[in-house]
Amino acid sequence: MRRIVTVIAMVMMLAVITACGKTAQQETTGAQETARNTSGAAPAHSEVLVAYFSATGTTKKVAEKIASITGGDLYEIVPAEPYTTEDLNNNDRSSRSTKEQNDKSARPAIGSEDVSLTGYTTVYLGFPIWWGEEPRILDTFVEKYSFEGITVIPFCTSGSSGIGRSGPNMKALAGTGNWLDGKRFVANVSEADLKSWIDGLK
Ligand SMILES: Cc1cc2nc3c(=O)[nH]c(=O)nc-3n(C[C@H](O)[C@H](O)[C@H](O)COP(=O)(O)O)c2cc1C
Repeated sequence: MRRIVTVIAMVMMLAVITACGKTAQQETTGAQETARNTSGAAPAHSEVLVAYFSATGTTKKVAEKIASITGGDLYEIVPAEPYTTEDLNNNDRSSRSTKEQNDKSARPAIGSEDVSLTGYTTVYLGFPIWWGEEPRILDTFVEKYSFEGITVIPFCTSGSSGIGRSGPNMKALAGTGNWLDGKRFVANVSEADLKSWIDGLK
């Protein structure tokens, strides 16, 4: 009788050990699965892109601050043909920049490598104001890419002018994207001011 009880007890212990072992194994597999899913589903890059053109470095600094606040990636729209000081002379009616701004069909070529917008949900788009609106190279940029499903937020720097019709101009040329109202910033705008603007967009 005692032997039968011992055998039953051993069988029950074995059953409990097996069950525990299986649970632990299942948990490990589950954790591995979760880890795999997490890494598999994680985007390869941020969902925010800060794309900008800056001829003399002012907008670049603002773009870098926005990227730092949002954790976004930076993409510089670099002209294939760099603008010289003479090109940027806005007192000269025959300078390259003046001629381009007077010609709505001018599309200066972009020299920087193409950027893939796949995976980005928000694009901040920065530029200096030239003759009251966006430089024509921004028109090249917005016509080149599809902003389908992307929120586009224009921002600019200037001597004193506001952002004017830059946003609506680019929205019309792009034809896609959810374009928010843009904003003009002073050259040395603080991170705190930029952050409160960004938080207000949500
Ligand atoms: C060709 C050209 C045209 C400009 N037109 C204007 C303008 O209409 N209004 C204004 O306030 N500033 C104007 N500016 C000044 C720039 O918008 C300003 O210096 C800007 O912050 C430069 O940015 P960046 O250093 O990123 O190129 C102009 C500058 C250039 C070179």
